[in-house]
Formats: sequence, structure tokens, C-alpha cells
Amino acid sequence: MTMSAVSRIYLDNAATSWPKPEAVYAAVDAYQRESGAAVGRGATRVAGELEAVVNRCRLRAARLLGAESAERMVFTFNGTDGLNLALTGLLQPGDRVVTSVAEHNSVLRPLWAQREHGGVEVEYAPVDADGIVDLDSLKTLITQETTLVVLTHASNVTGMIQPIAAVGEMAHEAGALFMVDAAQSAGHLPIDIESLPIDILACSGHKGLMGPLGTGLLYLCPGIEEIVFPMRLGGTGSQSETDEQPSTMPDRYESGNHNAPGIVGLDAALGWIEERGIDSLRELELQLTSRLIEGLSAIDGVTLYGPLSPEQRVGVVSFNIDEVAPQEVATILDQNFGIEVRSGFHCAPKIHESLGTKSTGGTVRISVGAFNTTDQIEAAISAVSEIAGAMQTS
Ligand SMILES: Cc1ncc(COP(=O)(O)O)c(C=O)c1O
Repeated sequence: MTMSAVSRIYLDNAATSWPKPEAVYAAVDAYQRESGAAVGRGATRVAGELEAVVNRCRLRAARLLGAESAERMVFTFNGTDGLNLALTGLLQPGDRVVTSVAEHNSVLRPLWAQREHGGVEVEYAPVDADGIVDLDSLKTLITQETTLVVLTHASNVTGMIQPIAAVGEMAHEAGALFMVDAAQSAGHLPIDIESLPIDILACSGHKGLMGPLGTGLLYLCPGIEEIVFPMRLGGTGSQSETDEQPSTMPDRYESGNHNAPGIVGLDAALGWIEERGIDSLRELELQLTSRLIEGLSAIDGVTLYGPLSPEQRVGVVSFNIDEVAPQEVATILDQNFGIEVRSGFHCAPKIHESLGTKSTGGTVRISVGAFNTTDQIEAAISAVSEIAGAMQTS
């Protein structure tokens, strides 16, 4: 595919990170040209080499997310895939789920379907104007009848980091399971599953984890596989003589051929993150986000959403320019400045009622990544300032 040679400032890393580390391109290219093997199917030397990379990828993912056992990390095709697998496989008629209005449609829609067609009750905790979930409301909503609590770790609209430890404890005290949507936090924030009250965690492999599109991870704590029915049944390359889906992890949830090029790329990406260190990635994110918040909040006619303190958020910053539709701002940024951002509701419709951005058509969202620079952030601030100034004088 030939892409435009015009210089680009990519600030849409919450959708998918770009560019990827060089090692990711090299690994995918080498796999496609020199391997081509399928995962877990075949005993050739090349298949064995691929198996070793896949196992290393699982191990690296487990290490990064603080999971004790690599077998409990299931490869999925994106964050949505893992969330669907867990929600549809777990919930039964009569179950009661508590979630929040800050969730992405990859949680809201499977839950809506379960409510409409699966006899599941769903309740939504409100968030405040910054997007933080209201703990008092959660305390009231989570009862002995609650089966599952689902919460996003970090909002893809305001960047707000939710108090997952406190919410997980609340869920466990009531005897409910706790599931975390880590699509916006994996690779951005240190996560230690074993020390947190988390039963299920789903994330993308292609956002903060820096892998290719078509990758995701799902963690299930020991025993959960007994109550989460697999969404996809079929060949696993293991126990092929039985009609029944294997009960062993991770085969139980990995039917059909894997996205081998994606996993090989994800492995290289996780290796790159290990080398860089999650703390240094977070430090850069804080530095860029901090300057972005400072710069945007100083512009007349710009309203920022989410907490002003960068420590309370990942590198996702939503804003609007008075009287200008977010779609128009994003188009001008792209066409006049070569700056790529996202506009609209960002697949998280309910939070916009709390932010007051439903009637404005959502927000403009800038999301920083591991390859963004201070100069790019300055360019974005000055472009937004120019657009806001031009709109005020027009
Ligand atoms: C909070 C949140 N959850 C889930 C998802 C879905 O992830 P994926 O795009 O990997 O399916 C996203 C994607 O933007 C997200 O921001």
C-alpha cells in the first residue's frame, strides 16, 4: 500500500499506536518471508521456532501485567474480542452486572445485548465532571446479588485513571467478580494483576503494548475458565481426538489459527517495552500530557475535559473549541496542519452526558504515544490556538 508522503504528526494513539518500534516491523517481515508457520499445528523445525516466539510473547505479556502464569494469558484479536469473550461466556440469565457510564462500547454493547436478550440486569454508576467513577454510588449499586463488576482502567475520552483497586475490593467484598478493561492502560501504566483484586482483564495488543493491529490479550484468574464458556469452538491443535473443547488454558479460548504475524510483532513490541521500561514510557507520557494540558488550557475559547493533573490520567486529552464542531476542528488539524487526532464520541457515548459534550457532538481527542515528541505537542498547541483565534475573529 502506498501512503501519502506528506509529513504527519500522529496523535491518535488511543485508537491504535503508530509508529511501531522498528523491531516490530522487522519481526513481522521476517515471519512473513521466512516462516509462514501456523501456531501449534505441526512439528517442523520452523513450527517449533514459531512456538518458542509465541511462548515468549505470552511470558512477556504475563511479566508486564504481573500475571503469575503465562498460560493464563489468552491471545485475542483486539480488546473488544477479549471483552466479548469474557462477557458473553460468563453471564447467565438472572445475573446482575454493575458497570459505569465511562465504558467503551466494547463493554456497553455486549452488556446491552445481554440485557435485551440474555436476562441479565445491568446498572451504570455515574462519573463526575472529570470522568471519575462515583464510589458512593458504586457502594450502593454493588450488592450481594451482583455477579460481576466491569470497569475501564482508564477512560478513552478523558484519560481519567479509575480507582480499580478500591472498586475490585468492593466487588470481592460483595462476592462479585471484577473485570477490568485495560485497553487504555496496558503499556501506559504499571499493572500488577496478582496484587490487585482482578479476576479478568482484557486489553488491546495494538495500542500501548505497541503490537500490530489484530492483537489483544485476555487474562483469566485461576478457576475462571470453569465458568467462562468459550465464545469460539474448534481446532486448537491439541486433544484433536475429542469432540469436546479442551479445558486447558490457553487452548480453551484459542480455537482456529492464531494471528501469527500479529503475535510475532507483539512479542517484539513487548521486548521493546521491557527494554525501555514501563516507568520511562510513563515518564514521557506524563511530560507530554502535562505540556498539552498546560498549553491547551491557556487558549481562549478552548474547554478541556478531564482532570487537570496529568498524574490522574493517561495521555488522552479531550477538548472543544467554543462554537466549533469537534469534527471540523479535527479536519482542519489534519488538512491544514498534518496533525491526526480523533473527534466525536470515541465509542463511549454515555460519558458525554456527564461531560456535557453530548450536544456538541463529542470532543476533539489528542492521544500521545511513545514516539511523540515535545515539538509535536508544541505544534498541536499552536495549531489549536490558531484555529481558536481564527474562529473567534470570523
Ligand atoms: C476503553 C476502551 N476499551 C476497549 C477498546 C476496544 O479496543 P480494541 O480497539 O482493541 O478492540 C477501546 C478502543 O479504543 C477503548 O478505548
